[in-house]
Amino acid sequence: MRLAVLKERRASETRVAATPETVKRLIGLGLTVAVEAGAGTGASISDSDFTAAGAEIAADAAAALAGAGIVFAVQAPLPEQVAQIPRDALLVCTPNAFANPDIVPALANAGIDAAAMELLPRITRAQSMDVLSSQANLAGYRAVIEASAAFPRGFPMMMTAAGTVPPARVFVIGAGVAGLQAIATARRLGAIVSATDVRPAAKEEIKSLGAAFVGVEDEESASQTGAYAREMSDAFRRKQAELLSNTVSKNDVIICTALVMGRRAPVIVTQAMVDSMRPGSVIVDLASDAGGNCEATKGGDSITTPNGVTILGWYNWPGRIPVAASSLYARNLLTFLTSFWDKDAQMPKLPADDEIIKGVMLTRGGAVVHPSFLAPQAA
Ligand SMILES: NC(=O)c1ccc[n+]([C@@H]2O[C@H](COP(=O)([O-])OP(=O)(O)OC[C@H]3O[C@@H](n4cnc5c(N)ncnc54)[C@H](O)[C@@H]3O)[C@@H](O)[C@H]2O)c1
Repeated sequence: MRLAVLKERRASETRVAATPETVKRLIGLGLTVAVEAGAGTGASISDSDFTAAGAEIAADAAAALAGAGIVFAVQAPLPEQVAQIPRDALLVCTPNAFANPDIVPALANAGIDAAAMELLPRITRAQSMDVLSSQANLAGYRAVIEASAAFPRGFPMMMTAAGTVPPARVFVIGAGVAGLQAIATARRLGAIVSATDVRPAAKEEIKSLGAAFVGVEDEESASQTGAYAREMSDAFRRKQAELLSNTVSKNDVIICTALVMGRRAPVIVTQAMVDSMRPGSVIVDLASDAGGNCEATKGGDSITTPNGVTILGWYNWPGRIPVAASSLYARNLLTFLTSFWDKDAQMPKLPADDEIIKGVMLTRGGAVVHPSFLAPQAA
């Protein structure tokens, strides 16, 4: 069976869905691997690196996709690529289907069996395939590194003969995978760190990393026991805004990572909070792809407000650390395929009743199968 690795075409996408390491392992399964020319450029992987690992380099997407039974990509294919993917092929990528629901019927109509890796259930067996975690972890690290570069003072306390430079105060909003890595990274750089979240489990995790917890603790937050946070009520948001308005103005750097699966990101840092910050302060909005946690964020851009606050609202933060992000993403996809590889039949075997398969498959056999994307039944 032939597996095609596509070159990503969407703006700000630098990652690639396979690396020479995973190509070797895919070939070990018995697959032929075709990599579209230039697919690894953004992640510092040359065509000759892929060739050395045993891949065939295809001149363009059409050549890579011709006869492919499996397609690996990072983002959803563009409409012209959807038309080029052979019917019945298995496409494995992160189409961000909740934000781009139109892709789902398009894939079904093209007869593509599409696995949306961002929908992977958060169960122990799936941890090594968990693209959201692998990418969020790197994004959290990168956010702090970019914040420290944009911050005009420095993160650690520096005691010199000429005097003392105080440490930066960093406040992290959302302490999931990205937020916890942001806390750890900011602490390693010597900052004084505090953080907030709505899930009660996050409080101990924040404290265990040496950061202070700041947050509203009420009945509503106590009920947040799932792996993903739910959207909070207006009453909770008001309480949170009151508490955080003081916190934000006292901090130098705000790292925003709060997300609600399938929804627009909650707006937590208001314009008034931004206005209250000191000149030179930095806000990094990792939630910008989902609309942003900060009211003043300009998605896909970096701005400086009239009161001198820099807001980094770039999209695709994992793509800003492309070598590591591609390496982990490619391994996540390899593990997924290997787990469902039928050695005897030399093809993937995707049992419809398997929890992982139920979670990720958007379309199969020309139909939409994921419960979240089924068309509402006519009354
Ligand atoms: N296999 C597994 O068991 C598995 C895998 C991955 C993650 N997890 C766990 O799932 C949890 C969430 O992880 P994530 O990083 O994917 O979450 P996420 O990216 O969906 O959200 C980031 C964080 O924002 C928080 N948040 C949402 N709304 C908020 C608000 N209004 N105010 C403040 N914070 C808000 C969430 O609680 C979460 O901690 C973590 O505890 C993580 O360890 C488990």
